Amino acid sequence: MRIALFSARGFDREFFDRANARHGHEIVYFEAGLDSRTAGLAAGYACVCPFVNDCLDDATIESLARGGTRLLALRSAGFNHVDLAGAARRGVTVARVPAYSPHAVAEHAVGLLLTVNRKLHRAAARVREHNFALDGLMGFDLHGKTVGLVGTGRIGDAFARIMLGFGCTVTASDPNPDAALAGLGVRYVGLDDLFERSDVISLHCPLTPETRHLISDAALARMKPGVVILNTSRGSVLDTRAVIRALKAGRLGGLGIDVYEEEGDLFFRDLSDRALLDDVLARLLTFPNVVVTAHQGFFTREAMEAIAETTLANAAGFERGCVPAANLVTPQAHIAKSG
Ligand code: NAI
Repeated sequence: MRIALFSARGFDREFFDRANARHGHEIVYFEAGLDSRTAGLAAGYACVCPFVNDCLDDATIESLARGGTRLLALRSAGFNHVDLAGAARRGVTVARVPAYSPHAVAEHAVGLLLTVNRKLHRAAARVREHNFALDGLMGFDLHGKTVGLVGTGRIGDAFARIMLGFGCTVTASDPNPDAALAGLGVRYVGLDDLFERSDVISLHCPLTPETRHLISDAALARMKPGVVILNTSRGSVLDTRAVIRALKAGRLGGLGIDVYEEEGDLFFRDLSDRALLDDVLARLLTFPNVVVTAHQGFFTREAMEAIAETTLANAAGFERGCVPAANLVTPQAHIAKSG
């Protein structure tokens, strides 16, 4: 297929070119992000391959469909950036990579937890300056603590198993409880219960109308003082301003996030020679107990290989009329189990 790949970075080219040696598609890489202003670049490409911060709203999809696009091959698990109803109306098929490496994201969440709890970010910077004092670096044992997971799909499942290995009590909230995890000792509870009893809360649900700002002022008020919150899901699951209020009040032990509500204009770019114009993110970065990474949870060799292979296989399957059903995204997906 002729594939227009948007928001292309060097690493996309490396992994997609390598996988394409097996598929033989014609891939053209566009550094530009995809939205209604850039959709015209894809005219004549039957397949468009967007990334997570591209904007696939109705106007973009309309323009893509007019230019002949018939397949949106998302190179992500999440699809909250796509107007699925708009795509369906215009006969544009949407495919995704439902599972590439849940371990990549789960392990990154663990990394954020250890960094925030044991203050590794501060410790490493101190030692570089030959400051070997320990004051201010005390953390807590994870062993024996209660970890609450919101969402126990593929990534939540991997994270739960790691936390069980640490000797934590794991509780979870998910409309689709996982019997295998329950068998391992994970206790499914209501959200309020989870907020009230957890020492660590980790978000692994998709962004949907129901999960937007799930971590709100009201939710934060229910949590134990000193709770550590992790978000590797989608930025808007957490109300950033509410979290800043809780941080200022000294009610949070720490925050580790790989995603941010307004990351679309910032992440995946080197902006180090410019002023940071996002005042909310700037405020967040002033707290010593906050660690922010720029959406790198997926970014392992294994995950990139799997993403490239499945995306290109989805395109090949589309040409043959047989994309695996599990990889297709329909308008109903927002209310079903999704990623
Ligand atoms: P998944 O579809 O396997 O699991 C999502 C789980 O969340 C399902 O079990 C679903 O029932 C549950 N869920 C849905 N609504 C819920 C609610 N209101 N409360 C509690 N649970 C709810 O998805 P997967 O692969 O585990 O990914 C989870 C999310 O992680 C994705 O939606 C995506 O937003 C994010 N992600 C982040 C990446 C990163 O690089 N930081 C990379 C890949 C995914």
